[in-house]
Amino acid sequence: MARTVRVAITGAAGQIGYALLPRLASGAVFGPDTRVSLSLLEITPALPALEGVAMELDDCAFPLLDDIVLTDNTEEAFDGINWALMVGAKPRGKGMERGDLIRENGPIFVGQGKALGKAADDVQVLVVGNPANTNCLIAMSHAAKASVPQQRFHAMTRLDQNRAATQLAQKAGVKVASVSNMAIWGNHSATQYPDAENARIDGQPCPQVIADQAWLQGEFIDIVQQRGAAVIAARGLSSAASAANAALDHVMSVERETAGDDWFSGGIISDGSYGVEEGLIFSFPLRSDGKGNWSIVQGLELGPFARSKIDATATELLEEKAVVKDLL
Ligand code: NAD
Ligand code: LMR
Repeated sequence: MARTVRVAITGAAGQIGYALLPRLASGAVFGPDTRVSLSLLEITPALPALEGVAMELDDCAFPLLDDIVLTDNTEEAFDGINWALMVGAKPRGKGMERGDLIRENGPIFVGQGKALGKAADDVQVLVVGNPANTNCLIAMSHAAKASVPQQRFHAMTRLDQNRAATQLAQKAGVKVASVSNMAIWGNHSATQYPDAENARIDGQPCPQVIADQAWLQGEFIDIVQQRGAAVIAARGLSSAASAANAALDHVMSVERETAGDDWFSGGIISDGSYGVEEGLIFSFPLRSDGKGNWSIVQGLELGPFARSKIDATATELLEEKAVVKDLL
């Protein structure tokens, strides 16, 4: 075995945790030569349920699963970890926006951000709990004080990328694997901009394959922006299987060198690219070098329509930042 990767999952007894853990422990994410060690964090009242989850992981007899730590102590959970999947937070209910959770969930990421100082030097952090971009900003600001580099922080917009790719594939009548270069810009919220202009279908610019510009600039964007709410309306609970899948897709995209001229989407700290204010956690098209470093894809063409959408989602993130300024 080349290595063991230690992964912390917060909120591990929740519904995303339940969908995520078996795939993580099976070796599907880090590959057949990597052992996986799990560090599962929960609030104290959820520890009995967490023990049940660990029993089930034991009963899977995964050959690559090394050990499982169950704890309600954040510092213990983050001790020596290589990845933190920060899922533990309240989900929204019907009729709410994700941003409505900000004052309830934001404080969780203060203490957890500080505790990331206990992590291994190479730690990578993916924030899933909503509102993901601003929670990520909070965690990053505290972890920076504990010397974790800001570039290690990611907010999850991979679910939006996957949703957008499927919508384009279904409209074009092709398999989803035909869709590449799917950029999500901005906030994981109803202002995000899923970018069909720069997406490709079988290597062709998407607008050449789907000529219905009114759909690309209207219904397509609405569906992706509102998909989380549509799942809540249908299930009575927020997305879990697709969210867990997206989190693991994001980890794999960071861990592996990005192939060809494709990209993936994730919220990372803005360096001012495309006119987005520096320091915001903003979703951009990214490429990974497979060694833990990402870069923002540069030089994409953004017309006036795209520009107005990107400006709107950046404005929303600035407003969210102002709401949590006491937590930064
Ligand atoms: P859930 O309620 O099923 O599970 C959340 C778990 O977090 C619970 O078990 C709870 O006990 C735990 N928790 C709460 N506070 C905690 C803390 N301080 N420390 C550790 N654990 C804590 O919710 P879920 O469906 O798993 O969703 C979790 C979060 O992920 C929600 O905020 C949801 O909105 C968000 N989400 C984000 C995306 C995305 O694309 N970014 C997608 C789906 C869901
Ligand atoms: C999603 O996009 O499914 C999640 O962010 C959950 C939600 O509240 O929509």
